[in-house]
Amino acid sequence: MKVCRKIDEIRQHLQADKTSGRTIGFVPTMGYLHEGHLSLVRESLNLTDRTVVSIFVNPTQFGPREDYHQYPRNLERDINILQKLGVDYLFAPSVEEMYPPGYQTYVEVTELQNKLCGRSRPGHFRGVCTIVLKLFNIIQPDWAFFGQKDAQQAIIIQKMVTDLHLTTRIKVLPIVRDKDGLALSSRNTYLNPQERQAALVLYKSLQLAQQLFAAGERNATVIKQAMIDLIQQEPLAKIDYVAIVEMENLEELKEIKEPALVALAVFINRVRLIDNIILSLKEKKS
Ligand code: PAF
Repeated sequence: MKVCRKIDEIRQHLQADKTSGRTIGFVPTMGYLHEGHLSLVRESLNLTDRTVVSIFVNPTQFGPREDYHQYPRNLERDINILQKLGVDYLFAPSVEEMYPPGYQTYVEVTELQNKLCGRSRPGHFRGVCTIVLKLFNIIQPDWAFFGQKDAQQAIIIQKMVTDLHLTTRIKVLPIVRDKDGLALSSRNTYLNPQERQAALVLYKSLQLAQQLFAAGERNATVIKQAMIDLIQQEPLAKIDYVAIVEMENLEELKEIKEPALVALAVFINRVRLIDNIILSLKEKKS
């Protein structure tokens, strides 16, 4: 696996692959890799000729009081994991490489960015879209892979790709969960054992939503209230939002039609966790 720190370097390597007609798959990450990331990498390895993974903790998607500095990092460990999987290139640029002094260009998906997580994390999706577009411009992938865990992010990226006529195709893969249902996230490392136990309430509330829906309930307010009641029984949990929305435009639904996205963000003490499920009449894991 070639590890590239510079934009020119990765571009040069990929140029050779592109001239020989090889397809490029891309998995953008912020590192501290877990099975969720690895499922994206495996899909890319299966679907494309060359797989590029990026590791970059992107400062512009963190708010001033968020966890940019604490965000877990372990590049050596990540390199080992990716090498074993057979990844072709790792792009791990510095902040200065991506945002040199005087940088001032940003990308916004103006409506979708203000819903759900965007309400409590202003500027977050502007940072995400900006870095993803910059990385797409550098890598020019045929395919890019994102996790359903960040459902709003995946929907916004797809919208950006459509609106800006990008040629990269986006593939979204299911949430990977621990055996007890907790969605994998690099931020789970912030949880102590008691908090980790409390965090199971997110998935339990989503399972409750799925059960109510499967039993015939179509009133979104009723399902949301049942989820809220369940979460509020957990003393360490504080709800940021619980929402049932249309998949495409993230508009709140009153009457549920398939496919509907049930999404939530909950603080477990100081750790903000997100999770979601797509309601369907067939029982699904994520
Ligand atoms: O999902 C993430 O890890 C990040 O938001 C991404 C897509 C790598 C952009 O920094």
